[in-house]
Amino acid sequence: MSTSQSAGQKTSARQPKQPIYSPEARVQIEHLISQTEPSEEELHPGSDVTRGLSQQPKTLPPRYFYDDRGSQLFEKICDLPEYYLTRTETEILQTCASEIADITGTCEIVELGSGSSTKTRLLLDAYQQAGHALCYRPIDISAGILESSAHSLLLDYPTLHIHGLVGTYELALQRLATSHLPTRMICFIGSTLGNLNPQECDEFLDQIKNALQPGEYFLLGIDLQKSKAQLEAAYNDSQGITAEFNLNMLRHLNQRFEGTFDLTRFEHFAFYNESDHQIEMHLQSLDAQTVQLKALGLTVELSQGESILSEISRKFSLTTLQQDLEKKGLKSRQVWTDANQWFGLILCQLPLI
Ligand code: AVJ
Repeated sequence: MSTSQSAGQKTSARQPKQPIYSPEARVQIEHLISQTEPSEEELHPGSDVTRGLSQQPKTLPPRYFYDDRGSQLFEKICDLPEYYLTRTETEILQTCASEIADITGTCEIVELGSGSSTKTRLLLDAYQQAGHALCYRPIDISAGILESSAHSLLLDYPTLHIHGLVGTYELALQRLATSHLPTRMICFIGSTLGNLNPQECDEFLDQIKNALQPGEYFLLGIDLQKSKAQLEAAYNDSQGITAEFNLNMLRHLNQRFEGTFDLTRFEHFAFYNESDHQIEMHLQSLDAQTVQLKALGLTVELSQGESILSEISRKFSLTTLQQDLEKKGLKSRQVWTDANQWFGLILCQLPLI
């Protein structure tokens, strides 16, 4: 988003006097592979695809949206007029980032699913302005976007240190070394939590809790429940970018697992399931067809009109979610929302003792 793109430069005149290290000296990017027991994914890459496509109804894991092309398409979605989420969260962050910095004090900013790190700049600006050391640990499944966003951040923030991790959240959360800064804040913004079903959400929050030391923080951004019409417009944009994003998953699977998905024989289909408070995004087969994923030894039969669920995007109630977090032992310190209550940010802390 162009407003925050330049935000990093605004305060550069007020940089604390520190030795200026070259961008290359301030960055480290680590590719995570499990050291102890190889994960299911490492032993059998794509086993989650096989599992999803063998189920009835068929599903695919949303993480396969994000190859480099998919990450670019998602960036385009964030700028769409109908997709209020990113804009609204940015607006909230613009007003609350300095309050967040005041609450946490100097801290390492860990971000899950950092993508282009555009919104993170608002946090970095606030910490910089308050005179805190800037230490950022972005975690993303896409190496391409992680490297390019790290590169541009280093140029814009001359004292910033980056230690990025390429890998899954699960692995990254297991592998988070304690910071040399006084505290850490794990950020999970952009409502990515909405991709997890209630059980996965529960397990994820356990992983967050286990990754935090007493006194450390968790910043969570979530999309809130609202009208079906507004939600469905956000996931069926008039320019068809969301459709392209959805179909790109099939292209990615073709490339990754020697697949034979014909993108012209599938259609994007998204609707709001009101009883479960979730958007469901599907890839609907336009005719009866057989698809192969040769690298997985998988043959998939689809009937005409049959759909593959590629994503759920849950919409939350702030109070219910706060209660769930409290039950996990994550105490909410502060909550922010926009004037329309479209989006919410919750700052939690794992209590001391
Ligand atoms: C990145 C998971 C928050 O659910 O709104 C955007 C992904 N899917 N348009 C969302 C997405 C379709 C997005 N999240």
